[in-house]
Amino acid sequence: MSDYPKDLHPESLMMSYGYKPELSEGALKCPIFQTSTFTFKSAEEGKAFFEVAYGLRVKEPNEELGLIYSRLNNPDLEILENRLTLWDKAEECAVFESGMSAITTLLLEFLNPGDYVVYSAPVYGGTDHFINHILPRFGIKPIGFRAGSTKEEIEARIEKEKAAGKVGLIYAETPANPTNALVDIAVLREIADSLSTDEKPVYVVIDNTYMGPLWSHPLELGADFVIYSATKYIGGHSDVIAGACLGSKELIGRIKGLRTFLGNMAGPWTGWLLMRSLETLKTRMEAQAINAAQVADFLRNHPKITKIHYLGFIDKEHPQYDIYKRQYSCAGAMLAFEIKGGEAEAFKFLNSLKLIKLAVSLGSTESLVQHPKTMTHADVDPADKEVIGITDSLVRLSVGVENAQDLIWDIDQALNKV
Ligand SMILES: Cc1ncc(COP(=O)(O)O)c(C=O)c1O
Repeated sequence: MSDYPKDLHPESLMMSYGYKPELSEGALKCPIFQTSTFTFKSAEEGKAFFEVAYGLRVKEPNEELGLIYSRLNNPDLEILENRLTLWDKAEECAVFESGMSAITTLLLEFLNPGDYVVYSAPVYGGTDHFINHILPRFGIKPIGFRAGSTKEEIEARIEKEKAAGKVGLIYAETPANPTNALVDIAVLREIADSLSTDEKPVYVVIDNTYMGPLWSHPLELGADFVIYSATKYIGGHSDVIAGACLGSKELIGRIKGLRTFLGNMAGPWTGWLLMRSLETLKTRMEAQAINAAQVADFLRNHPKITKIHYLGFIDKEHPQYDIYKRQYSCAGAMLAFEIKGGEAEAFKFLNSLKLIKLAVSLGSTESLVQHPKTMTHADVDPADKEVIGITDSLVRLSVGVENAQDLIWDIDQALNKV
């Protein structure tokens, strides 16, 4: 890894970084290490590997953590983790068998009974469920704030719950799924710093799934962690479920510790598939964003569309525009829009599409469309849905790599049926 000059771009390194062909019979590509366990050269070596893995002693400066057992480490997992650090310029990465396992492992590691978790709304429905229905069973209470809230509004929410001194971490999804609402990461950093003490640091976690790893780097903007559902852009082909969490060596080390005992790490086959996907991440995402801009332009002027949530259309005078410019270098490939009418009209549209597939998930090569209110966000409190804009007529579209004119043709013909 150290042979490369520091200034090479991630897309140039994605085919080779972290892989040593000489350790795999010269194979150009990293093989799938489909093995549950690894042989030690000697009992002494096995002892040394375990001492480091279980934190019984610190690694010597040039000592590599030896391969032990695929729940702890595996070449496909480790090389993938090294490659994923490149886009976000992170010290360390932990990969999981799903985005939800990355999120839940992080929350369980850094929250304790009696803590509050401050979170932005909307968040992905699964995250919302875990924060509002599972964590309270362990004595951890949620404080939600609407994406787009000011610093004063978020602080007022914390004050109202008398939670100062008891906040464990601040969790935000930005851009938010499904409305593209933005949360100011610098503001969360300021709030976290004002609540932190030496004994109880308050961490900032950003789920960057909706934008993907290319055009925003939350760690550089003040977050302690960035989370991905790697099922989305990183995997990108709707054929694998996975998740990733990135941050400092120390904090990701703690997450990997809990992952070892929960046993929710990604397996070698998942690791291999994601490495393959990473090679084309930039090319795919750029093509998707270009298509999304054309689809958004078409929808903007359509008489049957009453509202469109697309980052490229934020009014320059709106407070969200300043956040957009500071945090993102592209509008991405996710859109949501409201169809004139309600659920019946939205469903008619969804049922009439021919090329675009009606399925949840996002960030894939094929365009996917779904109805957040009754699908991905079905479980969100109805009152919250109203406030955060998840309405009966809202449809979410993840734009793929197809021909943009074909996508527009499909959307047009389906809208004509409404
Ligand atoms: C923003 C966001 N975060 C997390 C997740 C959960 O990821 P996974 O489905 O890979 O567990 C999703 C899934 O849709 C998501 O959209």
